[in-house]
Amino acid sequence: MRIAFCCSHTKAAPWLDGFHRALPHASIAEWMPGDSQADYAVVWSPPQQFMDEQPGLKAIFNIGAGVDALMKLRLPPQARLVRIEDGGMAVQMAEYVCHALIRHFRELDCYEDDVRHGAWSYRKPRRRDECPVGIMGLGVLGERVAQAVNHFDFPVLGWSRTPKELPGVRCFAGEAQFDAFLRATRVLVCLLPLTPETREIMNAANLSRLLPGGYVINVARGAHLVDEDLIALLDSGHLAGATLDVFRTEPLPEKHPFWTHPKITVTPHTSARTLRDETIAQIAGKIRTLEAGEPVEGVVDLQRGY
Ligand code: NAP
Ligand code: GLV
Repeated sequence: MRIAFCCSHTKAAPWLDGFHRALPHASIAEWMPGDSQADYAVVWSPPQQFMDEQPGLKAIFNIGAGVDALMKLRLPPQARLVRIEDGGMAVQMAEYVCHALIRHFRELDCYEDDVRHGAWSYRKPRRRDECPVGIMGLGVLGERVAQAVNHFDFPVLGWSRTPKELPGVRCFAGEAQFDAFLRATRVLVCLLPLTPETREIMNAANLSRLLPGGYVINVARGAHLVDEDLIALLDSGHLAGATLDVFRTEPLPEKHPFWTHPKITVTPHTSARTLRDETIAQIAGKIRTLEAGEPVEGVVDLQRGY
């Protein structure tokens, strides 16, 4: 069995070592243009040339959860596209979102600033029941985040494409319930996949429907957000702040206003990193399952886009 490794911005050697250990009978190598046919591919943002030269792939394994970069390519028609499900990312996402939420809710940035200026300050405690947290996307990551936020006794709302029932979460689904979801939310968390339906979903019209003093946490993809609309709503005072981990262009361009906006916290696409060992174990397990003729979880529905 041959496996082609084609991951941009990724040092190949430790991945190849890990796959050799997990699948000792497979031959795995970093892809070079003109290479012979592989059975499986392990990819992150590969070039179109890779797909064009590998028409015989049985499955393509993305080493992340989001497959938006792959949906822009022409894929070999018979190849299944398989994404990482959790692989250690869900707990990281829960940590990150709870950290951003609590930092905002408890005004920790303001206390830090006061302390820096030698001030022993007092702020009136905020009411938790007045800070409902709405999570867009209740998939592998969104569900784990909802559980974690629930643990801190915030009211939790969730919105998905299809109806769901999750303990402790007020669930909304589809276009018809989107307005009610937004109007009942003060802290909005985006954990949607980037698809034609969800692109620019955080625009002026939708963000204006959040409760006054709303807060935005975007940990999905930069193109879910209309940057200028966020800035306008922060400057008007309708929104209180935002924590942004993902951007339309990454790295975030040097002159982008997000870097210096006083109400925006920026992190470098780090909320949930791909963990190498967990990812190799998950992909190797799925390759063994496919080789045994069994179905695997995490196959992307190409029509839906996630
Ligand atoms: P997932 O399991 O596929 O979950 C996606 C969720 O979004 C599902 O609940 C789905 O609804 C919902 N959804 C999709 N389209 C929708 C629509 N049009 N309207 C309403 N809900 C919609 O994905 P995941 O593993 O949780 O990952 C989510 C995203 O997080 C990834 O696509 C990726 O972009 C991002 N991510 C970011 C980082 C980072 O470090 N910043 C790391 C990992 C992932 P249904 O349940 O009804 O299908
Ligand atoms: C990271 O952004 C991922 O999609 O896994």
